Amino acid sequence: MTEKQLQESVSYLTNKGFDKPEIGIVLGTGLGKLVHEIKNPVEAHYNNIPFFPLATVEFHTGKLIFGSIADKKVVVMQGRFHLYEGYDFLDITYPIRVMHMLGIKRLFISNAAGAINLNFKKGDMMLIEDHLNLQGGSPLAFKNVADFGERFADMSEPYNPDMRQKLIQIAKKYDISLQKGVYASVVGPQLETKAEYRMLKILGADAVGMSTVPEVIVANHLGLPVIAVSVLTDECDPDNLEPVNIAEIIAIAGTTEPKMVTLFKELIKSL
Ligand code: HPA
Repeated sequence: MTEKQLQESVSYLTNKGFDKPEIGIVLGTGLGKLVHEIKNPVEAHYNNIPFFPLATVEFHTGKLIFGSIADKKVVVMQGRFHLYEGYDFLDITYPIRVMHMLGIKRLFISNAAGAINLNFKKGDMMLIEDHLNLQGGSPLAFKNVADFGERFADMSEPYNPDMRQKLIQIAKKYDISLQKGVYASVVGPQLETKAEYRMLKILGADAVGMSTVPEVIVANHLGLPVIAVSVLTDECDPDNLEPVNIAEIIAIAGTTEPKMVTLFKELIKSL
């Protein structure tokens, strides 16, 4: 990855009308409905953006959408890149660097995750307060990282406290139950064994998923305030573990979608 490649990606988008977005949003599994809230949308398919990672077959819907929500200019990632698809850490975080170069001042992230904390239930949302990087690598471990910022990026407060506080207030106002906790990222794509769920609990995780952490590390590297919310799609109880049902995971993410849309829309309004 070079500065010049990023600039080419950005020029392509600027020429298409991506005009100084203020907020970047990453939409996770089953959370795509926020796109219906975008006014005057302009789209760019990942496959057409220079130097974007090449999409896999499954991934044909991936696109960046520019427009406005609540009178604020936003750029939305509909579909993200995952390590489990065979991409590397630089690939999956490239779009975050592009959105930053486009001018975003804040980043919102959503994902689907399994509940390790058994006080949390399927369909709950969880505000991520901190994380465990269990993906065995870093999006900052590359030779010319110093060209892009501090190699030893600070991670003492990776999730922006002001936006977290605002989101808690919004959830209260709309009577939306919002848990808080630690998100652990794994590579996947296989789900966890009972022993792994026990391990994650001992390590202090409240939820587990296959994304988000690399994006948050890069946002912190860029000095970009970030917030992330998980939809808890399954309960990871090692003593009563049922075979995974991906269709159910996607369905639960889908039924929780309207609440996620409310949280993000109201957060945009409040900024
Ligand atoms: N494990 C990992 N990722 C997930 C899970 C899970 O149980 N549920 C949704 N994404």
